[in-house]
Amino acid sequence: MANNRLDQVVSTIVEAVRGAVRDENISFEEYRAAIGYMMKIAESGELPLFIDVFLNTSIVSVINQNAHPAASPSDMEGPYFLDSAPVLEDGKMKTMDAYADDQPMIVRGTVKDVDGQPLADVLVDMWNSTPDGKYGGIHEGIPVDYYRGKVRTDAQGQYQFESTVPVAYKIPDSGPTGALLEMMGRHSWRPAHVHLKVRHPGYRDLTTQLYFAEDEYTHSDCCEGIVPEQFIYPELIEDGKRVLEADLVIEPQAESQMAA
Ligand code: BEZ
Ligand code: FE
Repeated sequence: MANNRLDQVVSTIVEAVRGAVRDENISFEEYRAAIGYMMKIAESGELPLFIDVFLNTSIVSVINQNAHPAASPSDMEGPYFLDSAPVLEDGKMKTMDAYADDQPMIVRGTVKDVDGQPLADVLVDMWNSTPDGKYGGIHEGIPVDYYRGKVRTDAQGQYQFESTVPVAYKIPDSGPTGALLEMMGRHSWRPAHVHLKVRHPGYRDLTTQLYFAEDEYTHSDCCEGIVPEQFIYPELIEDGKRVLEADLVIEPQAESQMAA
């Protein structure tokens, strides 16, 4: 049986690409070069990275377009989320002593529903880079249970994590994705950011990111992330720790999603 949704989506994509070919007067040589480049990306294993760099932000725009006006803005998940992250009883992530100059960071806030009511027992995941732009369980030398973890909100809907301040980092740039960005005259840097994912039964998952006002890449993300204004934080230090306060509003799941 024909899948109408698939037919509609694929036809729209093909028509958009055909339109680009016509608009840009693409030659047969350029067409063959594009096929060769796509093969390179696939063979290098960078297909997920390539798609995340160019398209994850558009998927997030669709999520935001359809979201309740009071819900917190979504942002890219990226390729480094691991659902196997440890549950942290006290919110303190494991960080590595090797980074002697790292700056402690607290990320805290309240999870609420769209009517402003705090939600208890909500699962909040956080993951952020090391002080040299690596992720636990992804990059060599950083164990999987470092710089990531899960907590549950308390009876007042509050959550808190302790980690260290992340930095701007380059997405892997030694392969064809980085080479393409360079040929386009673009850089491969993501601004310093903290990833958050909020999950609660009966509510839509919220995946978002927090940014740092002073970071030079906050407004020139190589992935053209959403970078919501309300999640760009000026410097606030408490007891020597950088503090980011992020209240997170989640909305009820649509009935069609509950059935799924
Ligand atoms: C990230 O933020 O972790 C990320 C997003 C897109 C590509 C690579 C990394
Ligand atoms: Fe990241």
